[in-house]
Amino acid sequence: MNRRKFINRTAMTSAGIGLTTILPSKVWSSVSPSDTINVALIGCNSMGFGDLQNHLDIAGVNCLALCDVDENVLNKRSAEIAAKYNQHPKLFSDFRKMLELKEIDAVIIGTPDHWHCLNMVYAVQAGKDVYVEKPMANTIAECSIMVSAARKYSRIVQVGQQQRSGFIFQKAMELIKSGKIGQLRKVNIWANFEYGVGPDIVPDSPVPAGVDYDMWLGPAPKRPFNANRFHGSWRHFWDYGGGLMSDWGVHLLDMGLWTKDLVQAPDKVLTYAANTFPEKRARETFDTMTVSYPKSDFVINWDMTAGLQRGPYDMSYGIAFIGDDATIVANRSKINVYPEWDNDTKKYKAEEYAFLEGTESHKPHAQNFIDCIKSRQQPACPPEYGRAAALHAHIPNIAARVGEPVLLWDDKNNRFTNSEAANQLITPKYRAPWILPKID
Ligand SMILES: NC(=O)c1ccc[n+]([C@@H]2O[C@H](COP(=O)([O-])OP(=O)(O)OC[C@H]3O[C@@H](n4cnc5c(N)ncnc54)[C@H](O)[C@@H]3O)[C@@H](O)[C@H]2O)c1
Repeated sequence: MNRRKFINRTAMTSAGIGLTTILPSKVWSSVSPSDTINVALIGCNSMGFGDLQNHLDIAGVNCLALCDVDENVLNKRSAEIAAKYNQHPKLFSDFRKMLELKEIDAVIIGTPDHWHCLNMVYAVQAGKDVYVEKPMANTIAECSIMVSAARKYSRIVQVGQQQRSGFIFQKAMELIKSGKIGQLRKVNIWANFEYGVGPDIVPDSPVPAGVDYDMWLGPAPKRPFNANRFHGSWRHFWDYGGGLMSDWGVHLLDMGLWTKDLVQAPDKVLTYAANTFPEKRARETFDTMTVSYPKSDFVINWDMTAGLQRGPYDMSYGIAFIGDDATIVANRSKINVYPEWDNDTKKYKAEEYAFLEGTESHKPHAQNFIDCIKSRQQPACPPEYGRAAALHAHIPNIAARVGEPVLLWDDKNNRFTNSEAANQLITPKYRAPWILPKID
């Protein structure tokens, strides 16, 4: 670790909003001022704050601002940044005001999924590079808008599908792409998580003190406050998230797409979905889904049972990459290669391999983003990959919601060709004054 030296820059005026602010700056002894990157965070409660810390642990990265609509979260996180990094970022409740700070180079987005598109588009329009959490957005239309926005404004955009930057899945891809498991025939994914059934039902209640709930809802429909539709558990409600299907689906389906470097949306999706968990919980999303994505020369299968915590190979979630010569089984903690036996040669058809120690992928993903901000190269997970993974989650969710077991998607014309009901769920209806961005 380099020795750090902390200084405060002299007061600078933020053009446009007329605010005078002392910009905090952490200067690493080995980092020249021109090599520093100033970041800001929108949505500070959980993953966003983890992402921010992973960025601040990189030499030359400073935190200029934090934004959250919950003042309790904002104050807590601000104190933590002061204690851990001796930095004093400026605090905001409205991300549009924060984006007026010219000194911010990059913005990390850790808000619930229904906010990602607006946060990201406003940020790239303000000239910022963006690290946006997954799923890239909560609807098909928003994902497409974000791809166009990143291109139009020539910004570096990293989607938070961090497994692309971790050793285990990089190793899996190396083995698959170099032919070590023979021809890939299937990618079987399973995801069993207890939290996917949602929390116990609680009644609506007053908005907690310090929360700008209207701004939390943003473009989503107006509703009375309910603790289950707020921090963390919003992901079980369609207005803000897509349940386990999108929460874990994008991470794991992304690995299936990576095997063949697919960046296309799925053109055909076969979906079974049900609610079979015995208790009634606070949830709109499905607890049980089995989905097939036929590709030209292999198939991806998704098998999800919320409410359980065990699964095949004694892994609650994982992926089996099934080839003619071997099957690779992996999750974030371990990777195993199980070779097929050759009866003629009396030998295994592939080499055995195991790595069981688990690897950290969030930090290298943040490092990759910072490297790409400097080099202007494409990051490990650009918006095109984020969109492809998100559509593999959104399309079966739409199929389940409209009760259409087979959905055919025409990506060129941006519509389903066999269900008008499904077409109604492509584009969200934003609540005024928010307007779905239009990128020419
Ligand atoms: N990459 C991963 O492994 C991973 C893991 C967990 C979550 N995530 C993603 O991270 C995102 C955040 O999830 P979470 O679990 O941290 O959610 P959370 O509910 O814990 O935190 C979201 C925060 O955003 C704030 N917020 C909401 N609207 C805002 C607005 N308009 N402006 C500023 N702040 C606003 C909330 O007040 C809250 O503090 C989601 O997209 C989720 O899917 C990714």
